[in-house]
Formats: sequence, C-alpha cells, structure tokens
Amino acid sequence: MTTPPAGRLTIRRLTQGRPLREQLADDVRAGFGRSPKVLPPKYLYDERGSELFETITELPEYYPTRTEATILSAHVDRLVEDIRPEELVELGSGSSRKTRMLLEAMHRSGSGNRYVPLEISETALEGAALELLDDYPWLEVHGHLGDFATDLPSVSRSGRRIIAFLGSTIGNLLPAARAALLERVADSMQPGDVFLLGADLVKSPATLVPAYDDAAGVTADFNRNMLTVLNRELDGDLPVDAFEHRAVWNAGEARIEMHLVAREEVTGRLDAIELDVRFAPGEPLVTEYSCKFEVAGLTGELGVAGLETAEVWTDDRRWFSVFVARRTDSSAPADQYGGG
Ligand code: AVJ
Repeated sequence: MTTPPAGRLTIRRLTQGRPLREQLADDVRAGFGRSPKVLPPKYLYDERGSELFETITELPEYYPTRTEATILSAHVDRLVEDIRPEELVELGSGSSRKTRMLLEAMHRSGSGNRYVPLEISETALEGAALELLDDYPWLEVHGHLGDFATDLPSVSRSGRRIIAFLGSTIGNLLPAARAALLERVADSMQPGDVFLLGADLVKSPATLVPAYDDAAGVTADFNRNMLTVLNRELDGDLPVDAFEHRAVWNAGEARIEMHLVAREEVTGRLDAIELDVRFAPGEPLVTEYSCKFEVAGLTGELGVAGLETAEVWTDDRRWFSVFVARRTDSSAPADQYGGG
C-alpha cells in the first residue's frame, strides 16, 4: 500500500467487515424502508466528507473540538505520567489532530511510541499517518482500516494502552450500540489500561443547534454530501440540491438530529440495487444522531459495561467532558502503575 517510511508504518485492512459498498447497499435497503428514512452517519466520511468535517471543526459555532482540546491540554501530561502507556489506540481517528497532544505527552514522559489508529476512511488514515510520521521521527504507526463499532477486538494489544475515543463520536451511537461498543472496549483492556472518552454534554439548544447549522453552510454541504456518496456508490440519480439541511434538537432523546428534507416531491433510482426511491414533499432522511450526555448518565453506561469512571474532566462552562475509565475488575491504587 503506502511505502513505509523506514518501517515505521503498517496499515492493516481488517477483514471483519464487508466492502463498504455492500454495507451501504444493505443499509439503504433497510433504512429507506423505515419511517422516517435513515442512513448511518459513517457514509458522511468519504474523502470530501472528511475534509468538510475538518472545516466544521474550525467553525465559530462548532464548539466541541476546541473545547475538548482545551480540556485535554490541561490534563494529558499528568494522565500519561500516571499511566505510562506503551501504545495509544484511537477509535475513529480521522485526521488525528487531537491525538498529537497525547502522542507528544507520551514522548515527553518517555513512555510509549506506538500509535494504533482504527479508522474507516482510508484517505484520512493514510494522510494522518504520513503527517504524523513526518513530524515525529520517534513515532511508529500501526494503522487499522476498519469500523470502530465492530473491529476493535481485531486490533492486537502490544503493551499497556490508552484507548481513546474522542470528539464525542460516541454520540453517533444509540444506547444499544453504545453498550455493545463499551463492552468491546472493556474486553480489549487489561489492568493498568485506561479508556479516554470525549463526550458532548446536554446544553441549551441555542448553543447546540447553530453548532450543527452554521452560518457559512458547511454543515449543510457536509450533510448533503451523503447523497453524493449514495449516487456515486450505488449508481444513483438523486437530485442533491432538492434536499435542505436541517439540524433538529430532539429534547426527549437528548440528541441533535441531522435531516435532509425534500423541498418538493423527489424521485430517483439507485441502479446498482435496482431501487426506486420517492420522498414526499417535506419528508426527511435522517443522516446522523449526535447524542448529548449527562455526566451521571454516561458514568452509569460505562459502569454497566464494566468500566469504572476514575475521573471526569470538563471545561468551565461544562459544555464538554472527557472521561477517564478503567476496567472495573482491574481498578487498583494509582501507585501500582506509577513509572518507578
Ligand atoms: C464527529 C460525530 C462527533 O456529532 O458533532 C459535526 C459530526 N455532524 N457536525 C458530531 C458532526 C455535524 C460530529 N461527530
């Protein structure tokens, strides 16, 4: 695949999952048969979608990325000194921007030099790995192409690890899927490891909605890009511009929902799966749930999965949180893991 810079890069394609196009075909058949129509958010992240998401993280309205970065910067050195991890495993690593803070802390503390990202987008994974290797001559990257929801058990452990799941990507999962993921995380941990989880907190819709419906319209393009992916992968002709972006705060379920709403009646065909598609005027396609959390609730969910919350870090507005959790059966005094 990519030429490994002096043997410091490996990329493994995890065979657990089927080709993305086949999964998409199944997800469309299932999701377009439901009411409302729904597709999983992972299809937002083709090459263009991943770029648009990077732009979103820099928008003035989109507070999660910079808030999480501020929180992490205040705590990572002490955490890494405590844990002395040999590797950093990251789920849904994307561009690996925030990862840099953790990797640099690991390097400063002289603990580990292994970065193990698990990412679904090949372009994002390779691009991020090459940039990191370029900037950090001491780093080894063992990339895994796969789905964070299912493929973590195939990522082999080679020493004490921090498993990071940042950016509130966990918010894309509904409760049952979260429980399954958290159990896999617990299963892949040993005594001394920690799970570092970034989670966006419930707050006023006056803050939440603009974060998902920005003035510059980047999130709208990001959302509509899912239709471009559909048309490309399944040989379709859905009129992308016939759909309007909408960000809806669902208070009962404590989640932002991204919808694509048909402005008028829309018909089209996905030739690769021989599916005729119809949207009534005003009918939505749900493309993403972004669940928001309460600290107590998420602590409870972690607990059910066998993960004990050791610390919760937040910002002064309590907009975002980073959880530090250990396997319940592996909790022990911190000095046991001290570097001495
Ligand atoms: C990457 C899933 C955390 O839910 O905030 C950003 C994706 N969607 N704007 C989020 C997203 C619309 C983002 N996550």
